[in-house]
Amino acid sequence: MDKELLKFITCGSVDDGKSTLIGHMLYDAKLIFADQKRALEMDSKVGSADGGIDYSLLLDGLMAEREQGITIDVAYRYFSTKKRSFIVADTPGHEEYTRNMAVGASFAELAIILVDVCHGVLIQTRRHTRICDLMGIKHFVFAVNKMDLVDYSREQFDRIEKDIRDMMSEFAYESISIIPVSATAGDNVTKKSENMSWYSGPALLEYLEAVDVTKAVCEEGFLLPVQRVCRPNHTFRGFQGEVAAGTVSVGDEITAYPSEEHARVRSIYVGTESVRSAEVGQPVNISIDREIDISRGCVLTGPDGIRLSSRFEAELLWMDEEKLQAGKTYLLKLGTQNISATVINIAYKIDLNTGKHRAADKIYKNEIARCEIATGMRIPVDTFDKNTSLGSLILVDRISHATVACGVVKKYVTDDNNVVWQQLDITSELRQTHMGQRACTIWMTGLSGSGKSTIANALEKQLFSMGRHTMLLDGDNVRMGLCGDLGFTDEDRAENIRRVAHVAKLMNDAGLIVITAFISPTAAERENARRIIGENFVEVYVSTPLSECEKRDVKGLYKKARKGEIKNFTGISSAYEQPDCPELTMDTSELELGECVDMIMEYLDEK
Ligand code: ADX
Repeated sequence: MDKELLKFITCGSVDDGKSTLIGHMLYDAKLIFADQKRALEMDSKVGSADGGIDYSLLLDGLMAEREQGITIDVAYRYFSTKKRSFIVADTPGHEEYTRNMAVGASFAELAIILVDVCHGVLIQTRRHTRICDLMGIKHFVFAVNKMDLVDYSREQFDRIEKDIRDMMSEFAYESISIIPVSATAGDNVTKKSENMSWYSGPALLEYLEAVDVTKAVCEEGFLLPVQRVCRPNHTFRGFQGEVAAGTVSVGDEITAYPSEEHARVRSIYVGTESVRSAEVGQPVNISIDREIDISRGCVLTGPDGIRLSSRFEAELLWMDEEKLQAGKTYLLKLGTQNISATVINIAYKIDLNTGKHRAADKIYKNEIARCEIATGMRIPVDTFDKNTSLGSLILVDRISHATVACGVVKKYVTDDNNVVWQQLDITSELRQTHMGQRACTIWMTGLSGSGKSTIANALEKQLFSMGRHTMLLDGDNVRMGLCGDLGFTDEDRAENIRRVAHVAKLMNDAGLIVITAFISPTAAERENARRIIGENFVEVYVSTPLSECEKRDVKGLYKKARKGEIKNFTGISSAYEQPDCPELTMDTSELELGECVDMIMEYLDEK
């Protein structure tokens, strides 16, 4: 019987002893070195029914990289023990090789991350872990190496183990093992070490032989992204690809996307063998009982069908020297589909070190960002955790043909109302250049009567007199038109702010500097506005105290509210949550109007 196969990646820098560790393991295990092709042959024997080479194992979502002839510097090594067969993707760990690591990680089920016991958890440890997580790895082994250099100190190991567990708390992994090793001396590599009696777990190789990485099989309908249409003669037309989910049998009804035409399965081939049915993971060649519109990039599904979408959120690892800017159009390769797509919004970038989300309007090489992507047509999409094939993607530059990003789909919007994003040739960048200014939204928040509208008005006059193109959106005014249907319940306020944020975003896209004056009382609403508007969001907290606002009571509303004549009045019968870290804070009971305006102008100048 074929042995179970484990595909893993090793991550670490040269100095971490990665090569020594793998070398040691291979040596002890009487390895069979093999080239990449051999490894694939073995993989196919174990993983698929016919034993032919299943190149898709390697190619999957990153296939396009190879089609473009870009060399991927990942060494795949095959070795085998009595209990299990292994393929290890060995990639350089240095930051400039992030791309290679992502390629290696997309192939692996488990990651061994090396940590030097003398250095502990470093930024690069976090970077490696985050990339593995992004590419869908759920099983982690941390090999805490060079234990011999610290006299096999349990204290040192315990400290690092704790750091690793802290770091991992933010990831949705399925298994983790932290093993103290010495790659040079061989402790806990293939055999339990006698130098660390305090460690009760298995040696690294024992662990790798035993770890269970089988995915929970979810009850999913049949899915086949078509890789190739095969016409060996005029009587046969077959659709080739790897079954991405579910099973298919001769006689089943299938639907083809995007045409949404139906047919029945006439025959299924796996290799040259005709079979009754095939299941997830198998490379198949399927023929159907009638001529319908199917070409490379189409998806065949069972009766449940799939959702089509033209807008989704993805986490991208940016790999190009040229930075990512929202509004740019790329070639999207998702599953076997090739289509042009626009990154319409950068929601945030993820700090590789801390995992924190940070607003950004540009993404540089080796950064990870959450972006919204829109395609010119509805395509079959799924989230990566449900479907690796329809949930992983790459972006290719339309002019240089360089692969600029790889990533995974986190969320998608189904377009029940048939809305698709139209690619615009005049981008926001161009509009801003044309106007000779940088668009932004200055978002004033604070109690009623705090001075938001007064500052906003004075600020706009100042910008206007300098020849800037501006627009002021004020709570009371907007509530007479666009938001005339909304009151002051929590839900209505959230909707008010959501609409205003979208309007501000559109105006920013048009190149305008937007100033808004809305109470926007909750942190969640303001966060949502920041997410919608993006990095050009400037939160200004007008912090004038309630007592002062009430004393002014310009509109007489506080008096009414105190008498109970106005429900949900902010500050009186409805809460105001102070911003935690606004870009600017100003109290109009302490500052003159001119000083407040100057503060904002200075901030804008600096930016
Ligand atoms: S927000 O909470 O949804 O941001 P918004 O800024 O649009 O409020 O509107 C606030 C203005 O509406 C106030 O300046 C005030 O003139 C008026 N208003 C009427 N009822 C209320 C209320 N219950 N709470 C606060 N402001 C109110």
